[in-house]
Amino acid sequence: MKRYQDMTAKELADAKAVLLERYQKFKDMKLSLNIARGNPSVQQLDMIMPMMDVINSDTDCRDKYGTDARNYGALLGLQEAREFFGELLGTKLEETIVVGASSINFMYDCLSRAMLKGVLGSDKPWGKYDKIKFICPVPGYDRHFGMCEFFGIDMIQVQTDEEGPDMDVIRKYVENDETVKGMWCIPKFSNPLGITYSDRVVKELANLKPAAKDFRIFWDNSYMVHHIYGDVQLLNILDECKKAGNPDMVYMFGSTSKITMAGSGIGFFGASEANIKFTESQVKYETISWDKMNMLRHVRFLKSQGGVENVMKKHAEILRPKFDAVFRVLSRELEGKGAGTWTRPKGGYFITFMANDGTATRINELVKACGVTMTGPGATHPFHHDPDDRYLRIAPSFPPVEELEPAMEVFAVCAQIATIEQLEAKA
Ligand SMILES: Cc1ncc(COP(=O)(O)O)c(C=O)c1O
Repeated sequence: MKRYQDMTAKELADAKAVLLERYQKFKDMKLSLNIARGNPSVQQLDMIMPMMDVINSDTDCRDKYGTDARNYGALLGLQEAREFFGELLGTKLEETIVVGASSINFMYDCLSRAMLKGVLGSDKPWGKYDKIKFICPVPGYDRHFGMCEFFGIDMIQVQTDEEGPDMDVIRKYVENDETVKGMWCIPKFSNPLGITYSDRVVKELANLKPAAKDFRIFWDNSYMVHHIYGDVQLLNILDECKKAGNPDMVYMFGSTSKITMAGSGIGFFGASEANIKFTESQVKYETISWDKMNMLRHVRFLKSQGGVENVMKKHAEILRPKFDAVFRVLSRELEGKGAGTWTRPKGGYFITFMANDGTATRINELVKACGVTMTGPGATHPFHHDPDDRYLRIAPSFPPVEELEPAMEVFAVCAQIATIEQLEAKA
C-alpha cells in the first residue's frame, strides 16, 4: 500500500471516495460507542467483588497491631496498611502515609497545602509568590494540568520521548529559576504514552540541583503494577534522591484505583521521613483519620504482594484482548499509509495515536459525527491546547471487544479521511 503522501491527486480522490462510502455506512449504523474513559470495565470490577466479603458484622476489626479500624486515630493510616502499601511503593513505614480513596485527592491536598503554607524548607508559602511554575511533561494527564490551572501555576511544557521527559530542558528551568517549584511525573506506563522512565532519566531527576530549595517532584506512580504484556522495571526515585543528597525532593503517590475499585480504592503517599513528619504536622488539622475499614478490607483481600500480582494478572487477562483489538485494527487499517502512528505500551490504560500534525481535531470531529466518543484533542496538554494538534488518547479498558473493534474501525477510517483532506488542501 502506497502512503497517501506519495499518491497522485487522482489516487487520493479515489481512495477518499472509498473511505467516504465506508464512513457513510458507519454513520447509518447510528453507533453509540465510547473509547474516552480510562475506567476499569464492569468485568474487572466484578472480579474484585469478593473483597466485599472479607469484612462483615462478625469481623475482628483490629489490625495485627491491635488498632481498631472502626474508631478514630492512626492519622497516617493503619500500620498494617502502611507496611503493605509502603512495600508496593518501595518505602519504609516511617516514609508512608495511607490516605483516602483517591491519590488525585492527596496530590491536590499536597499542592493546596504548599500554596497556603509551603513545604518543608520553604521560606514562604508558594501562593505568596507573584508566580510559581511547574514542569509539565507532555503529552500528559489533564487532571495534573487542571490543578495547576486552578491554582494559577504557570506550566512549562517539556516533550516526552520513550525514555521520559527531556532532561536538558528540565535542568535548564529547574536549576536556574527559583520560581520553578515542582514537576509532574507519571513514571511508569504513563498516561497517555504508556512509557516508563529509563534509569538514566530517574537518576538525572534525582540529581537535579534546583534553584528553589523547596522544589518537589510529584511522582504519580498510578500504574506501578499495571503490566499487560510484561513488566518493566522502574528505579525507586526516593532511593535515588537519597543517594544524590536530595532525600526531600520527591513526593510519591499511588493508589489501588485500578487494582481494586476505581471509586473505592486506597490512596497512598511516600516521601522522606522528614517530609512525612512535616506532612503529618499539617494534615492533623484537616482530619482525625481516613477510612481505615477500607484499608483493613484491602489488606485482608490482597493479603501479600503476591496477592497484588495475582489480581493484576487477572486484570491483564481482561485488558489484553482489548489492547490487542486496538493494535489489530490500527495495523490492518493504517500500517504504512502515512495516516498516523501509535504507541504500543506494555501496560497501563492507554494507547496514544499520533495523528499527522494539524489533523487531530478534524479526526475527532469526524469520529464524533459517527457516534464514537473519544477523549478530546488537546486533553494531553495544559489548557487543553495541543500546539501541534497531534495527540489523541485511546482508552480501551471499558468497552467490550465487540464495541472496541467497530469504534477503532471508525477511528481508522476518519484518520485516513483527515489525512487526505489535509493533503488535498495543501495541493
Ligand atoms: C496518571 C493518573 N494519576 C491518577 C489517576 C487517578 O488516581 P486516583 O483514582 O487514585 O485518584 C489516574 C486515573 O486515570 C491517572 O491516569
